[in-house]
Amino acid sequence: MPARNAPMWALGYHQCKWSYYPESNFRAIGTGFRERQIPCDALYLDIDYMDGYRCFTWSPTHFPDPKTMVRELAADGFKTIVIIDPGIKIDPNYSVYTEGLANDYFCRRADGPLMRGSVWPGLCNFPDFTRPDVREWWAGLFKGLIQEDGVRGVWNDMNEPAVFEKGTFPDDVRFNYDGNPASHKKAHNIYGMQMARATAAGVKQFTYPNRPFTITRSTYAGGQRYSSAWTGDNIASWDHLWLANIQCQRLSISGFSFVGSDVGGFVETPDGELYARWIALAAFHPFFRTHSSGDHGDQEPWSFGEEVTDLARKFISLRYQLLPYVYTTFWQYVKQGTPMLRPLAFLDQTDTDTYLRMAEFSLGDHLLVCPITTAGADGRWMYLPKGQWYYWWTDEARTGGAEVWASANLDRIPLFVKAGAVIPLYPVMQYVGEKVVEEVTLHVYYKNGTEHSVLYDDGGEGYGYQEGHATTRRFTVIGTDATLTLRQEIEGDYTPSFATYRVVFHGLPFAPLKGTVDTKAAPLTEAATETDAMLPETVVKAGFAEIVIK
Ligand code: GLC
Repeated sequence: MPARNAPMWALGYHQCKWSYYPESNFRAIGTGFRERQIPCDALYLDIDYMDGYRCFTWSPTHFPDPKTMVRELAADGFKTIVIIDPGIKIDPNYSVYTEGLANDYFCRRADGPLMRGSVWPGLCNFPDFTRPDVREWWAGLFKGLIQEDGVRGVWNDMNEPAVFEKGTFPDDVRFNYDGNPASHKKAHNIYGMQMARATAAGVKQFTYPNRPFTITRSTYAGGQRYSSAWTGDNIASWDHLWLANIQCQRLSISGFSFVGSDVGGFVETPDGELYARWIALAAFHPFFRTHSSGDHGDQEPWSFGEEVTDLARKFISLRYQLLPYVYTTFWQYVKQGTPMLRPLAFLDQTDTDTYLRMAEFSLGDHLLVCPITTAGADGRWMYLPKGQWYYWWTDEARTGGAEVWASANLDRIPLFVKAGAVIPLYPVMQYVGEKVVEEVTLHVYYKNGTEHSVLYDDGGEGYGYQEGHATTRRFTVIGTDATLTLRQEIEGDYTPSFATYRVVFHGLPFAPLKGTVDTKAAPLTEAATETDAMLPETVVKAGFAEIVIK
């Protein structure tokens, strides 16, 4: 499990491409999101921001004044993330190279010479990240990008390590291996994790008092303490959309939940339908980023015409509404190691029908998702685990333990809510923190029986939670034939920005006549939801202890 909570913004939407440059094009992407009201928190600079692919430098022609650019984008809610690779260009006029050489920080071949390999900058040497002093040096290199330029996150890539000549290093390359010298045969699998570890230390140090964000392509078991990860260079095909679903679930149950795929595919360009289906799935993946190789066509959410732009806005907005739920799920992962994405066999090990199911998964305790991974579909058959469920889009109640048909044109993804769940929603924001959240909507789904939900809150940034400035709100829904009781127990002393909840009741089997909040009468009104269903709702103080309706 990771060492700490992610900043909440890291669970928002990220936009990437190889590469956005020069500065005017990069800024235009930010404007593109805000003009179209498609939420986005992070914009990425791939290798072309650098001066000749030298890590820790900026191209003077493409990005003449990075500090101002990064600051102005930040004022509009965008966090700038930059790529950093392990290959350090062999160039006597480049300080990272000369420092590494002078201190003997680079990997050597078994017979003595430095390991040389070609990557984007041409011939490079490679830091031995398995050495503590090298990791410390590397961490210190982030001062300029993070503390001085204001960059908010780092993307580590090519850290298998990849070299063009032979794929990776030859087996004889030597590593310190934290004082237990070893060859590449042994160190290969952990090199990327140790690079991510050194990067995370630097980003953490210079980002303080904010929380760090890093992402890495290569890592290893245990690497989730240092970084999020993505599934590498995929292809814009339906098969790879199917694969992204499987990969993310399996990484998640392997201890690595903060994962996602290149939405839309890295190689080649998706058509609008494939992009829309991919965005819909990735809205339920912990890490949510569109990335593409960029040499085939554009892959911004608005690159596929108006219909797909609207769909992308819809699913990304839904993700932003779900942020308190996703953030709580992330916290469960940090505290308990609980996988954020859970395959069906995790949900019900007593039901053998779940064992061979691969497409369906839950995000957190109460949302069940099953992506559409074929062209031209208007829905799909899927297995619902035992119990009662509601279809998110229509509130239709379904009984699990069977295959069900989930109707889902392009504007839906098969998505079910477990009966008894309390799903907290934020208002749509264009980025985390755009608005002060004054009211959280609690969607309460009736269950005949009892169900528990939790909402964790610590403000989403900084380290106050380590001093106890965090709040856990535990909800219990108890349903009978004629009543629904919602209880809340609050632990912790974080004061949230919201003072009220709008509580919306779904699936009641009785016509509600009256409600009480903490034993006082409370007015119930009926309001249309996004799905046009008329549902009873009430607005209550966020500190309530018990609501009863009958
Ligand atoms: C690698 C990465 C990809 C990146 C490219 C250029 O292929 O996996 O995400 O865009 O290198 O840096």
